[in-house]
Amino acid sequence: MSGPIVVDSVAALSAQIRDWRREGLKIAMVPTMGALHDGHISLVRIALEQAERCVVSIFVNPAQFAPTEDLDKYPRQLAHDLERLREAGAHLVFTPGVAEMYPAGFATRISVGGPSSGLETDFRPTFFDGVATVVTKLFLQAAPDCAVFGEKDYQQLCVVRQLCRDLDLPVEIIGAPTVRDPHGLAMSSRNAYLGEAELNVARKLNVILRQTAAALAAGADDAGATDNATEALLGAGFRKVDYVAAREAVTLGPWRRDREGRLLAAAWLGTTRLIDNVEIPSA
Ligand code: PAF
Repeated sequence: MSGPIVVDSVAALSAQIRDWRREGLKIAMVPTMGALHDGHISLVRIALEQAERCVVSIFVNPAQFAPTEDLDKYPRQLAHDLERLREAGAHLVFTPGVAEMYPAGFATRISVGGPSSGLETDFRPTFFDGVATVVTKLFLQAAPDCAVFGEKDYQQLCVVRQLCRDLDLPVEIIGAPTVRDPHGLAMSSRNAYLGEAELNVARKLNVILRQTAAALAAGADDAGATDNATEALLGAGFRKVDYVAAREAVTLGPWRRDREGRLLAAAWLGTTRLIDNVEIPSA
């Protein structure tokens, strides 16, 4: 099978999208930062079920990294990514450089309220501005009918939905279930930073979240259950816990027992920060 078309300029991307539009084809997009794993490939599969053409972007977006974060060390492996996308059947891969996305003089920032407040924002205050800015640009550049985002980055998914609603961006946002290893560890490009011993600790994150969600669903007090989860994570070997929080699943406002809920967490293993989340069944 021949591989996807690879373009690195907005002009070439737009020209191909125009051709597909003229043919009346439906287009789905999967925005990524590369270092693709089975989780990303599951997003491509969903995109291919939804549309006749699948566009994947690979762009390590500097705007969503704070100066202290891992922008330079973030894994970049384009040849491997293109091979995985060829196998998966993606039609086009957009690989812009930083100057293509943020040319000299670029001075705009998109800032989403609502679900972006708290959780990640308490620890990465400019993260969602960076995500919202690049996602808005990608949607305007590729003009997809729909786009697929993983539930692994649950707050990001809620923020992108809010962004599209608020700005009338005509893109249907599809949330895709988290892909996990056989021990429950959520697939993440940052798992590549972990050694075998750390991976064994990392796998406890999902176990502890599932136990805590079950306790909440069974009537446990919110603050007590999330404090217990924090203690359990530290006891399991995590160095630091940024948050364990129960939230209402759509707005990410305070959790209510009569609404669908989500339990979200971020914790550090050495210098690697992991996030995960699970559903809290409603009463
Ligand atoms: O989830 C990611 O990989 C990134 O945050 C995204 C959505 C591609 C924006 O850079």
